[in-house]
Amino acid sequence: MTQRTLVLLKPDTVRRGLVGEVIGRIERKADWKIAALELRQLDRATLEQHYAEHVGRPFYEPLVEFMLSGPVVVMVVDGERVIEGVRQLAGPTDPIAAAPGSIRGDFGTIVRENLIHASDSEESAIRELKIFFPGLS
Ligand code: PPS
Repeated sequence: MTQRTLVLLKPDTVRRGLVGEVIGRIERKADWKIAALELRQLDRATLEQHYAEHVGRPFYEPLVEFMLSGPVVVMVVDGERVIEGVRQLAGPTDPIAAAPGSIRGDFGTIVRENLIHASDSEESAIRELKIFFPGLS
């Protein structure tokens, strides 16, 4: 089942020089392909759209501020069951709860700076891809 997902490498990943490490893990999965990739400074309007479902939650404003704190890598990845697959590579939201071997488990400690975002369903992927890559067919 070939799918397409949106992946963001958060400002901590860029600041810490972990972009190559994280992209390498994605690229090494059989038949997954990067369809688009850009280093981008996001703006508040984009993040408000992206995180709209979390408005009003205690972590919302710190999360938006963090995502504005530096450039992120925005990527589109295609491949077999890639939506679930990238979420598995990332590990759970809280890096301390994430197993060693996962991206968050290997490199993260605090929840806000959890390195990577990946769409959590086909519906989210379609919505998020339109926000970050409106021109992509
Ligand atoms: S939920 O309840 O399952 O919808 O939430 P979850 O998917 O775990 O988290 C939604 C996004 O919020 C981020 N998050 C946080 N950011 C900063 N601080 C705290 N405490 C925090 N808790 C959750 C989490 O990383 C998710 O962002 P993305 O970009 O999707 O990873």
